Amino acid sequence: MSAKRVLYDPFRPVYPSPAALITSVDAETRPNIITLGETFNLSIRDPVIVGIAIAPERYSHTLISEQREFVVNLPPAALLPQLMQVGSMSGRDHDKFAEIGLTPLPSIHVKPPLIAECPVNIECKLLWVKTIGDHDLFAGEVLAHHVDPDVLGGNGRFDPAKLSAVVMAGGHFYGIGEHLRNWR
Ligand SMILES: Cc1cc2nc3c(=O)[nH]c(=O)nc-3n(C[C@H](O)[C@H](O)[C@H](O)COP(=O)(O)O)c2cc1C
Repeated sequence: MSAKRVLYDPFRPVYPSPAALITSVDAETRPNIITLGETFNLSIRDPVIVGIAIAPERYSHTLISEQREFVVNLPPAALLPQLMQVGSMSGRDHDKFAEIGLTPLPSIHVKPPLIAECPVNIECKLLWVKTIGDHDLFAGEVLAHHVDPDVLGGNGRFDPAKLSAVVMAGGHFYGIGEHLRNWR
């Protein structure tokens, strides 16, 4: 095996990460959406806490900091064009739901809506925000995890084999990939 090269300008070095659509609202409950490549599980069961990394200049950064709620919506691969549109305009001067043609559905516990076209929606209450570097880390406690029945397995959990997802690696988009083996 040849010697590894050292990359001195790493960019998003950990891969893959899910592409997610995060919904938030303003003080008048007008909804906004942001595309994120940086969404992760921070605490996995007791309690369940997810993290999202948002740059300070994003309108969503202001909305989530002020209203302290957000929803993580995980899109199917078919939504990739809309995902790119969401990530190319700001809610400061666009109504993204109307202009892109996505459907808001009421959440149970929070004001930001679910995106109907996404098979998985995770309602979150903001716990804290921490400045990290060029992005800030928002930690959200999960209040409800909505899953489309079409992607549920017999055990009542989502079945990755039925899931269509978009993941990012090295600046490219991929599907969820091949099943290698079961964990247990
Ligand atoms: C594929 C993709 C991934 C992105 N990932 C992030 C991210 O992880 N964090 C972030 O702050 N912005 C990310 N962006 C940029 C925002 O989605 C973009 O700036 C958006 O227009 C901000 O919307 P807003 O001003 O309405 O909040 C990403 C954009 C795309 C297209």
